[in-house]
Amino acid sequence: MRLENKVVVVTGGAQGFGEGIVRRFATEGARIVIADIQAQAAQDLAQSLQTQGVSAIAVKTDVSKGPDMHHLAATTLNSFGRVDVVVNNAGTSHRNQSLMTVDEDEFDRVFAVNVKSIYWAAQAFVGHFRAQGAGAFINIASTAGVRPRPGLVWYNSTKGAVITASKAMAVELAPDSIRVNVINPVAGDTPLLGTFMGEDTPAMRAKFIASIPLGRLSQPQDIANAALYLASDEAAFITGACLEVDGGRCV
Ligand SMILES: NC(=O)c1ccc[n+]([C@@H]2O[C@H](COP(=O)([O-])OP(=O)(O)OC[C@H]3O[C@@H](n4cnc5c(N)ncnc54)[C@H](O)[C@@H]3O)[C@@H](O)[C@H]2O)c1
Repeated sequence: MRLENKVVVVTGGAQGFGEGIVRRFATEGARIVIADIQAQAAQDLAQSLQTQGVSAIAVKTDVSKGPDMHHLAATTLNSFGRVDVVVNNAGTSHRNQSLMTVDEDEFDRVFAVNVKSIYWAAQAFVGHFRAQGAGAFINIASTAGVRPRPGLVWYNSTKGAVITASKAMAVELAPDSIRVNVINPVAGDTPLLGTFMGEDTPAMRAKFIASIPLGRLSQPQDIANAALYLASDEAAFITGACLEVDGGRCV
């Protein structure tokens, strides 16, 4: 098994891409911490995995809040004694609209969840990774960070920030054997998709799909398979990489 005995934290692990990552990692022997602001959904997923013999716990976490992220790290260490991989997946967006109509509260909310969360993850986990002499972050950015679509200006810019922060973290943390990599999914079939499209109609889906050479939306399984590689020892020499999982959208 490719993640045998590894302890993995997945933020936003209760649904969408995060749930796909949690379920895929579970099949490869990982012990899993599901960190999500939706406490009940995270708990339900952890319980269903436990009935299948997987070591999984849920921790209610708002990734934009420092005390929550430190509590997440402490709970992980108390429960499993170590932490090998942190997948910073939790994210949000403003609804598709003019850059001029996103108000300040919404701007701040999207930056706090998508970007400040990376800062707090570093604050909460780098010390533990350093003490262990190894660790890996996988940050879920987006094709929006390199090939932005109109209507999502401030969301796009959060993902650009995630990509640059991740590359900078990779070089600064490399001497500690801490790897930092990025996955850029293209539009995916998750509950967040309607926010990106503005309205979830067959016509709008067709418009998004038309811009993806392989001719479909991404699925949680696609993102999970890429994350699995980056989390595993097969990627021991990969850091600072930004992997598009996008059916060719960014070509
Ligand atoms: N779906 C897409 O089209 C798409 C494309 C590219 C990138 N992404 C990125 O992938 C990641 C996952 O997106 P998704 O589509 O699965 O979204 P989703 O809305 O389906 O799931 C996001 C999860 O994150 C949790 N979450 C939200 N805010 C949180 C917070 N403050 N603290 C903790 N948990 C929080 C939610 O409760 C939910 O379980 C995000 O970073 C998103 O920006 C999504």
